[in-house]
Amino acid sequence: MSGTAIVTGGAGFIGSHLVDALLAEGRQVSVIDDLSAGRESRVAEGARLLKIDIVDREAVLAAFAEARPDAVFHLAAQASVTASVKDPLRDLQVNVAGTLNVLDAAVAAGAPVVFTSTGGALYGDAAPLPTPESWLPAPLAPYGASKWAGEAYVNTWSLSSGIPNAICRLGNVYGPRQSPHGEAGVVAIFSGCIHEGRAPKIFGHGRPTRDYVYVQDVVRALIASSGRRGTYNIATSVETDVATLWSELTRISGVELEPELADLRAGELQKSRLDTGFAERELGWRAEVDIREGLRRTYEALVKEFQGAGAQPA
Ligand SMILES: NC(=O)c1ccc[n+]([C@@H]2O[C@H](COP(=O)([O-])OP(=O)(O)OC[C@H]3O[C@@H](n4cnc5c(N)ncnc54)[C@H](O)[C@@H]3O)[C@@H](O)[C@H]2O)c1
Repeated sequence: MSGTAIVTGGAGFIGSHLVDALLAEGRQVSVIDDLSAGRESRVAEGARLLKIDIVDREAVLAAFAEARPDAVFHLAAQASVTASVKDPLRDLQVNVAGTLNVLDAAVAAGAPVVFTSTGGALYGDAAPLPTPESWLPAPLAPYGASKWAGEAYVNTWSLSSGIPNAICRLGNVYGPRQSPHGEAGVVAIFSGCIHEGRAPKIFGHGRPTRDYVYVQDVVRALIASSGRRGTYNIATSVETDVATLWSELTRISGVELEPELADLRAGELQKSRLDTGFAERELGWRAEVDIREGLRRTYEALVKEFQGAGAQPA
């Protein structure tokens, strides 16, 4: 496949894997990232990195006009739930106004947008499991609210321009390159703890469940949804509790550590499992990597990253 893709947030965890996959398909790739959470070293050499804050409207419009993309993957976001609680206005500026800037620039280029929303932080605790896309969102934190608002603009811009935009509501994504230093990304955090021989803090006493989805499966879904109009849950429809995740990682690593158990943090869900039937029917997509295989791949890759020269993620 040829053509030019813009990946916003392409220096981030998921975005950098997506950039690799697009380059492997033979596409030209421009990355827009302000490097607030992303790292330049994650961006493949074949891609062009533009250090731009998506809130800077003129810079976004100019970058799109120059790159002339035929596909846009909008992943740049204020992606931290706790940061959104501390500073909801910045969360809104990046996730809503920033999204609006990307949408306007994409319409000017005539390019469809794939927007990464959240399945984990959107539906709320009253949602049935597995949760279908039709369930009315009830986000517990500003991050979920801003993603929901972003979704509304993605849909409205699609209807008014006639360009098909897609929304992918991702489960809890894990895989190589995820930072062990964030407040989310429990697989990377646990892997970092195991590597350093440090006991982790397990919130919610290990009971909360999440729908963990391997990053390569997410990348395939993002590419499959480009040029489609719809909202898709992208996950596995399998629920795993945190205690099980921890014991599986200790089994893989052979390390024994006694975790510290703590209460759930504000804005966090008790349970999450997403209904992925719509993505399966519409996109012909389903997750292929199960949690055991995904954890093994992730742990092995992260240990190599931790050991690599200067590879301790910031
Ligand atoms: N990781 C998950 O489990 C998960 C789950 C649901 C949704 N998502 C969404 O997927 C997308 C990617 O998530 P990720 O886990 O790779 O996060 P990430 O933080 O690794 O990547 C986000 C990237 O966006 C960049 N960015 C942030 N603010 C920006 C701004 N104002 N202008 C330009 N760039 C900016 C960051 O530098 C970073 O490289 C995000 O939209 C996130 O909300 C992720």
